[in-house]
Amino acid sequence: MDVSEGCENIPIYLDKRDRKERSPVFQYTKCNIPGPGTDTEDFVSQFQGCDCHSVCLPDTCPCIQRFGPSYNNEGQLICTTISLCDKPVYECNRECKCSIQCSNRIVQIGVQFKLQVRNTDSDKGFGLYALETIPKDHFVCEYAGEVLTQEEAKRRTKALKHADMNYIFVLREHIHLVQADHSNVPPKEGKHVASTEYRHEPANGNIHVALNEDMHVTPNENMHVHLASNEDIQLAPNEVLTTYIDPTRIGNVGRFINHSCGPNLYIVPVRVDNSVPKLALFASRDIFAGEELSFNYSGSSGPVPKSTENDCVVSLRKLCHCGYADCQGFLPFDESLFDSDA
Ligand SMILES: C[S@@+](CC[C@H](N)C(=O)[O-])C[C@H]1O[C@@H](n2cnc3c(N)ncnc32)[C@H](O)[C@@H]1O
Ligand SMILES: [Zn+2]
Ligand SMILES: [Zn+2]
Ligand SMILES: [Zn+2]
Ligand SMILES: [Zn+2]
Repeated sequence: MDVSEGCENIPIYLDKRDRKERSPVFQYTKCNIPGPGTDTEDFVSQFQGCDCHSVCLPDTCPCIQRFGPSYNNEGQLICTTISLCDKPVYECNRECKCSIQCSNRIVQIGVQFKLQVRNTDSDKGFGLYALETIPKDHFVCEYAGEVLTQEEAKRRTKALKHADMNYIFVLREHIHLVQADHSNVPPKEGKHVASTEYRHEPANGNIHVALNEDMHVTPNENMHVHLASNEDIQLAPNEVLTTYIDPTRIGNVGRFINHSCGPNLYIVPVRVDNSVPKLALFASRDIFAGEELSFNYSGSSGPVPKSTENDCVVSLRKLCHCGYADCQGFLPFDESLFDSDA
């Protein structure tokens, strides 16, 4: 049985034992879609493409030259090794003339390694498992779902009961305006060429990506978000670009990935056709067949936030069952969606 119902390149297997009563109920989407009330403008606006034939090369492709190559010829992410991300990831897009074999097309191609959804037979519920070896820095899958407004994300969060699984992912990109060097990229007539970069850096040391009850904090001290043009988004430097992704009702295979305090995946925002980020999960080490996939909801190097003063929030914290020797005890927690004005 294919959990993706034919949406992915290869079937996402569901363990035999889980095919009857225990089968998860949700609608499958391969990529992010606008949720209720979300402005669809960001989804339809299209980045410009390159005119390269066949495959793109760093010396000649403006898509790659803009920020340097993101992937090597083996398809491994090279610019974002968790703590060394110093540039954003922009792939070639549907306007580009290059073929699907272009090395700057990875996340958009989708799932390449065999995966299985299986009940963990623990308090974690379902989990996602590798059915074959996944080498380090290879793309595994997206964490995709409905892109929500803050209002809708808060409304859904408030409706959650303590025992409910929480899937809402909050991506916070801290924007710093820096001057880009485009001296070697000839402007194309009639097409907008990026003249600014927006760097996002942790506001308070490390908070950058968060899943509301289970806070995701990217460890990247130096990640950038480069928007393809000034017009892509109306944000001033030092503002935070927040994206809420909820795969609870409509989502992809990423919704089954559990938290671990010693994970084997890391998450990177990747942009393809438009400014809506794809949350892309890559292997942080070689992963072997049979291993459960996991990422650290609070970032693989960031500390789990200390207990909060807010009793209501404290009572919502969940025990972590990751089994890692240095387990922090609780799932990370982000209060922002519980604040009245966050
Ligand atoms: C994104 S979902 C992961 C998939 C989920 N296990 C399922 O069955 O669909 C996140 C939820 O899974 C559970 N979970 C994830 N990691 C966990 C962990 N390390 N310990 C306990 N529960 C966990 C929590 O209930 C959390 O709200
Ligand atoms: Zn290309
Ligand atoms: Zn190109
Ligand atoms: Zn291109
Ligand atoms: Zn743990």
